[in-house]
Amino acid sequence: MLHIDIITVVPELLVSPLSHSILGRARDRGLLEVDIIDLRTYGIGKHKQVDDYAFGGGAGMVMMPQPLMDCIEDLQSKRTYDEIIYMAPDGEQLDQPMANNLSMLSNIMLICGHYKGIDERIREHIVTREISIGDYVLSGGELAAAVVVDAVGRLLPGVLNDETSALFDSFQDNLVAPPAYTRPADFKGWKVPDILLSGNFEAIDAWRHEEAVKRTRHRRPDLLEDE
Ligand code: ADE
Repeated sequence: MLHIDIITVVPELLVSPLSHSILGRARDRGLLEVDIIDLRTYGIGKHKQVDDYAFGGGAGMVMMPQPLMDCIEDLQSKRTYDEIIYMAPDGEQLDQPMANNLSMLSNIMLICGHYKGIDERIREHIVTREISIGDYVLSGGELAAAVVVDAVGRLLPGVLNDETSALFDSFQDNLVAPPAYTRPADFKGWKVPDILLSGNFEAIDAWRHEEAVKRTRHRRPDLLEDE
C-alpha cells in the first residue's frame, strides 16, 4: 500500500484526475491512498494568507514558509515520509525508472507550488527531492503531481487487471510499445498484420519485440544509446 499526501492551494485541480479510471479503482480497492490537503487551512490571519511579496522586489508572489511548515509538521506527526517532494520545473525529470522506484515506497508527500514557487528555505531544509515532469512551466505543481501519482499508482501490485501488463509498457525495457490492433481485422481495407491472426504466440511475441525495437530506433534512438 502506498500513501501519498498532496499539499496544494487548489485542491479542485487534483480531485477529479485522481478519482477515475485506474487510479480511482486503485483507491477504491485500498491499494493506493491519496489525501489532498488544502494549504489554505494553515494560512495566516483572517484571510488565511499563504503567499507574500518576494524580498528584493519583482513580480510574483512567493509561498510563505510558515503555513507550509505547519502543514508539513502536522502531516509528519501522523506518519514518517520516505520522500518529501517539491514539484518544480527545475527538478529531476520524471521517467519510468523514477516512477518504478517511487512505487516501492510507503509514504510520499508532494508539495505543489504556485505563483513564484515556495520559499527557498523549505526547499533547502525540508524537501528531500524535487521532480519536474518536463522542460516547460506549468502554472502550478498540481497537474505535475497528478502525473506523478498516475505514473506511480498504476505500477502498484494489483492495480492493473493483468498484473504483468505494466512490464510491457513503453520505456520499461528502454523500448517504446509495439503497435496494437483490435477488431475488425479489415477496416476500410487497412489490414491487421497477418502474424497477429496466426495464433502462433511465440511468433507474435517475437514480432512485437522486433516492432518495438524498430519503432524505438526510428522514434527514440536516444533510448537505445543508453544501453
Ligand atoms: N511546476 C511548474 N512547472 C512544473 C513542471 N514542469 N514540472 C513539475 N512541477 C512544475
